[in-house]
Amino acid sequence: MVIYNIIPKPNKYVYGDSEYEISSKSEVLCSKEFVEAGNYLTDYLKTKPEENEGFIKIKKVEGMPSEAYTLKITNDGVFINAGDYAGAFYGAVTLKTILMQAKKQNGKAVLNTLVIEDKPDNAYRGAMLDCSRHFFEADTVKSLLDNMAFLKLNKFHWHLSDDQGFRIESKQFPELNEIGSKRASRHLKGFGMENDNAEDYHFYTQEEIKDIVAYAKQRNIEIIPEIDLPGHTMAILAAKPELSCTGEKAEVLTVNGISKAILCAGNEAVFEFLDKLFDEICPLFPSAQFHIGGDEAFRGYKLWDDCPKCSALKQKEGISSNKELQIWFMNRVCALLKKHGKTPVAWDDCMGDSLDSSIACQFWRPNAVASVRKQSLKRDVIISSTSYFYFDLKYSVISLKKAYKFNKVKVGLNKPGQRILGLECELWTEWIDSKASLEFSAFPRMNAFAEVAWTELKNRSFTDFYKRLAWHKTYMKIKDVNYSRVESGFIFPKGIVYHLGEDGSEFKKSAEIKNAEK
Ligand code: ACM
Ligand code: ZN
Repeated sequence: MVIYNIIPKPNKYVYGDSEYEISSKSEVLCSKEFVEAGNYLTDYLKTKPEENEGFIKIKKVEGMPSEAYTLKITNDGVFINAGDYAGAFYGAVTLKTILMQAKKQNGKAVLNTLVIEDKPDNAYRGAMLDCSRHFFEADTVKSLLDNMAFLKLNKFHWHLSDDQGFRIESKQFPELNEIGSKRASRHLKGFGMENDNAEDYHFYTQEEIKDIVAYAKQRNIEIIPEIDLPGHTMAILAAKPELSCTGEKAEVLTVNGISKAILCAGNEAVFEFLDKLFDEICPLFPSAQFHIGGDEAFRGYKLWDDCPKCSALKQKEGISSNKELQIWFMNRVCALLKKHGKTPVAWDDCMGDSLDSSIACQFWRPNAVASVRKQSLKRDVIISSTSYFYFDLKYSVISLKKAYKFNKVKVGLNKPGQRILGLECELWTEWIDSKASLEFSAFPRMNAFAEVAWTELKNRSFTDFYKRLAWHKTYMKIKDVNYSRVESGFIFPKGIVYHLGEDGSEFKKSAEIKNAEK
């Protein structure tokens, strides 16, 4: 009997002691809402040239929980039941994984009989990609979405605006692209190292965005865009300097790091601009969520202190601190988004009791955990702790095992009454400059993350995961995914140097390790 290497591990399964044969001509019969899920399978089956026999049924069953599926491999056929498209799709993903691993005999796949009853532990299982610090072509984004779908991740948080570039086509404000999407050079090799002097002028056209959103939807992935506000806005302010406190000319940042740029809170033109921008971009993203950033804005607070408009606003509204002014700002943005039926998400830095409770909190700073626990009683929380899920960090900082070991209970974010939506891993791209380095950072940590997000704690074991991962590594190799062969920072296959992007310091470190191996 073959035990299938499924990641994330299904929450409940029982193997039988019989077999069922599938050939490339085996029919996949679907309820009509599930045809796309069936196509995910037939794509694979079509690649196996054999005669027609056997069948696979994907059926809608009312009353099953969202995203849940059952997969029964019996002597009479293969049956996937689900209550919604998500569940049907995940049943198909699991079956595809099984078909690839099944014993092959006379051109047929011979499947073990098996019953799986599965559903995710977390409703929100996300990954973020920063496309401002480094732009990734649509095909690279789609490839990441493919890999996410195979791991049953369902949210793609798309960081589309930061100091280093604004990445959405705007027809309302073409200067956001002509100026805000352009920088004279990129700083990708490490702090203290020179820029590459290659002009970087990139944004996603609205057509590309619609295409990527539809591509994600087929894979049960919802795309949540982020426009980071009111800090991290140098690219917006390069295009629209009149929206800053000083009105001074600004340039899109060509170095990594975070600028002091901040939108003026006391200038109504800022909210008029955002309103028009949201009118234009909200329809591109069907998700009910919209990320409005809110992180690290304190770097610009001095500009608010020195600004007559911001000072006048504080006086008028009885606001005594910049933190409260930021909350006031986020609440204004929230009201604008509500008109579009959107619920905002913001990083944990800008949380406070006066922040609109419909704004979800994204937990990232480990030292914010106590306040996030409190916030979780009144607002939704997404967990993306820097210590576990910042996959742009080196493997010597977040090893594969460390990513796997995250436990909501241990951080006190699993108590009754707490509104925990789920988990998200982060791919910031200051030092990630190519598809290969993106994949190096993401995988196999994202495999570990997916299991932590989907599989209940009682069903998780790193040793068992690691055994199953071996097949997934082979699969990634075949798919040409440049997963990291480094898992803790110190294991290097002889003669091969892997590094995060073209980060000089990481490269030197790799060379050191290589030398140490000799
Ligand atoms: C963040 O890492 N600045 C959210
Ligand atoms: Zn101001």
